Amino acid sequence: MDEAKKRILSGIKPSGDLTLGSYLGAIKNWVALADSCDCYYCMADMHAITVRQDPAELRRRTVSQLAQNIACGLDPKKNVVFIQSHVPAHAQLGWVLDCYTMFGELSRMTQFKDKSAKNADNINAGLFTYPSLMAADILLYQADLVPVGEDQKQHVELTRDIAHRFNTIYGEVFKMPEPWIPKVGARIMSLQDPQSKMSKSEQDTGGCICLMDSPESIMRAFKRAVTDSDTRVCYDPDGKKGISNLLNIYCAAAGITIPQAEKEFENKGYGAFKTAVGEAVVEMLRPIREEAGKLLGDKAYLAEVYRDGAMRASQTAGRTLRKVYKKVGFVER
Ligand code: TRP
Repeated sequence: MDEAKKRILSGIKPSGDLTLGSYLGAIKNWVALADSCDCYYCMADMHAITVRQDPAELRRRTVSQLAQNIACGLDPKKNVVFIQSHVPAHAQLGWVLDCYTMFGELSRMTQFKDKSAKNADNINAGLFTYPSLMAADILLYQADLVPVGEDQKQHVELTRDIAHRFNTIYGEVFKMPEPWIPKVGARIMSLQDPQSKMSKSEQDTGGCICLMDSPESIMRAFKRAVTDSDTRVCYDPDGKKGISNLLNIYCAAAGITIPQAEKEFENKGYGAFKTAVGEAVVEMLRPIREEAGKLLGDKAYLAEVYRDGAMRASQTAGRTLRKVYKKVGFVER
């Protein structure tokens, strides 16, 4: 391993199918980092169960997420790609870190407040301590950089506070991680409500596009995308949220800049623009969907990938966990 390379860790919860937002905001950036960094990516299934999941669906989505990651270009030879629950060190360090995370800190997490408002009948302890499990995910690998969306920044900041607290007591055990928020594609918004982030929970309302969606359903969603009553295709993220979101998506899919796109649609209406965005997204996702479909037909290959990933992840994670156990005073077995 190249010591000069920066270590990266990130994860996505398989609590819904992967969306266009996860691709443009996360996976596409991950693919680009493979050569210059030492990267670890997990399917965060342990995080997914903080909200009740159908077991068969969770299993299907976890494996499908892995296949889609690979289909997006994430090479499992160059990156360590694994399923979180396959590496017990996450749960083990998670518990230790629970004991170094304050009730008050967890109570202030915006995501906890949002989620507990949405799941009022299931405000379980896991939902509350989720950020210390996420801190374990990150600190186990001594990550330098954590690519995340804006909504996860607070969790990475808490991770830093926990690491600092632990290091102050026991010496330099954990590397201090930095959140890394990509500029382009970081915030792909809902097609139905461009005020809020594109979320996998909107699968039925046409607000989100999933990587495995059919071309017809993608076209339908873009044609129905919410815009304003103006007719000019121009970028104005405050005044024209819907159109600006579509412009971001179009530029990412077509590989052009905002001014170029504005020029292209200068004298064309919203209808023609929405059709063009839909077509560009269909073409961008077509090879991904086809490749993921093929991979899903080869369960033995996928199992080989996640077993190899779990083995490599466990080696790195085990080293940190052993150090932590020793520091806190557990007897060596
Ligand atoms: N909490 C992240 C999300 O909901 C997913 C995640 C789990 C993660 N563990 C992580 C992200 C570690 C970055 C690093 O999107």
